Amino acid sequence: MENLKKIIWQSPSNIAVVKYWGKYVSQIPMNPSLSFTLNQCYTETKIEYSFEGSGEINFYYNDQINQAFGIKVKKYIHSLNLSFLQNLDLHINSFNTFPHSAGIASSASAMSALALCLTSLEDLIQNAKRDICEFKTRASYLARLGSGSASRSIFPKASIWGKVESIPFSSDLFGIDWSQQLGSEFQAIQDWIFLVSSSEKSVSSSQGHQLMENHVFRNSRIEQANENILKIIHAIKNNDWELFIDVCEEEALTLHGLMMSSRPSYILLAPDSLKIIQSIKQFRKENNIPVTFTIDAGPNIHMLFDKKYEKQVQEFCESEWSEYLLQGKILKDQMGEGPIQTT
Ligand code: DP6
Repeated sequence: MENLKKIIWQSPSNIAVVKYWGKYVSQIPMNPSLSFTLNQCYTETKIEYSFEGSGEINFYYNDQINQAFGIKVKKYIHSLNLSFLQNLDLHINSFNTFPHSAGIASSASAMSALALCLTSLEDLIQNAKRDICEFKTRASYLARLGSGSASRSIFPKASIWGKVESIPFSSDLFGIDWSQQLGSEFQAIQDWIFLVSSSEKSVSSSQGHQLMENHVFRNSRIEQANENILKIIHAIKNNDWELFIDVCEEEALTLHGLMMSSRPSYILLAPDSLKIIQSIKQFRKENNIPVTFTIDAGPNIHMLFDKKYEKQVQEFCESEWSEYLLQGKILKDQMGEGPIQTT
């Protein structure tokens, strides 16, 4: 393509502490969710575009054609029906800073990076005069349509997606910035990810969401999540780590309980996932240090704690999980400031 212009966004993954699990048509969540935005686990996406094209889209991952993700990306972009794209040819190239197969929410970072590029392109071509808040809301809206959890990656530090009556501007259609609400002891959250397995998941998140439609615990799950989001909001605002830990672990284990009790039932946890959970709990109890864990739809364990306990947590990892440390299977990430546009 000649006369190429480009837009580049880096957008991070996020880790939910109240989980989005189950959705209605058009990516409307069954319940609200709350997440922390990560820092080092991000996707960088570059869109090169040329005018007077025919709407052609080429997708590359790490400079290589990627058929599977390319089909998903094209389907997503076409589904958005963005009229300004009609005469543009797009050449999209993405890479992740973390292994694609690590089981870290790559769809959240990938879809949010793509949505941010599309929103920038929309601004440019339509000469829209959006302020930063409107820009992010639009990007989050578009990201949600690609992957629900991606709607939360647009914002710094923490985000809520899904309508919560007591939270102004919260919506099922996009995430909101919740960074201003964090208590002083939740300003420097660390997320150390134990990479238990990097093999392909046996059941995807999309299939998991579908199984919630007729799940025997569906209504009680929706009720529980609505209660848990209020509890965790209270805990984070008021520096109540005890309550935070209770809710965070209940959410993680409920998510996997729902998988185990769906029809058909399935298990994504591995033996080491359970061993790591037990040892985190024991470490907390013996040392009276507020560390907790959460789990996404996979076997990896995310260990959450305040930065002030980093030294003790490092010692715990060295004594209990040295083989994970030595093999580079503990990814040390932390809460971050959200996406950045580099070009
Ligand atoms: C377990 O956002 O990956 O990570 O909307 O189908 O793309 P789709 O699902 P996705 O689901 C993520 C579920 C979760 C919990 C969470 O991030 O809230």
